[in-house]
Amino acid sequence: MTRKRVGVLISGRGSNLQALINACKKRDYPAEIVLVISNVPQAPGLLRAEAALIPTLTINHKDFPTREAFDAALDAALNGTQVELLCNAGFLRLHTPGFVERWRDRHLNIHPSLLPAFRGLHTHERVMAAGCKISGCTVHFVRPEMDEGPIVAQAAVPVLAGDTAETLAARVLEAEHHLYPHALALVASGAVFVKGERVCDSNKQAQIPLFSPPLA
Ligand code: GAR
Repeated sequence: MTRKRVGVLISGRGSNLQALINACKKRDYPAEIVLVISNVPQAPGLLRAEAALIPTLTINHKDFPTREAFDAALDAALNGTQVELLCNAGFLRLHTPGFVERWRDRHLNIHPSLLPAFRGLHTHERVMAAGCKISGCTVHFVRPEMDEGPIVAQAAVPVLAGDTAETLAARVLEAEHHLYPHALALVASGAVFVKGERVCDSNKQAQIPLFSPPLA
């Protein structure tokens, strides 16, 4: 089995990165992480990659005059490491349309809501304020708009009486840690592909939604 070479972009704590690192340790997992890039110096997630002996880079967006220049530096690093698939894991910068186009259908993001609801920041606070009874997380292919693009997989969690944004965030985060390895495996193995902005099952060739994975 040839594993897809994956780059991961982070900005912070990197718990989803850790979930992907753990998944990649399995012998039959169809991907390996070959590079982790943070735009934030000293992001805690970098230590997780270093502990797993994965090469890391800090490319600080503040060192670049334009978004295009920053994204060009990302591109150069990713291409220099022959990255085939890219995963945003808590990477909190919006990419330029050119970058998104170059990585089109090879670039995933995870967001802590059931998209297309609650894009952007302060997700859990807004879910609570809206009185939602379920929430969850989504892995999707990246498009120029923030938290938008064809959905690969979703997992749902209940919003419980007495929840705060923090307790809900923790429940959703646990689901994220199951969902992202599942979704990356689907993409890296070629089990799914994008057709007409929908993610299709490669065997059935139909535009059917995928079921979310069972949660532990
Ligand atoms: C995760 O909850 C992820 O879904 C979210 O940032 C967090 C990163 O946590 N991403 C977004 O909100 C993207 N719009 P982590 O650094 O521990 O993986």
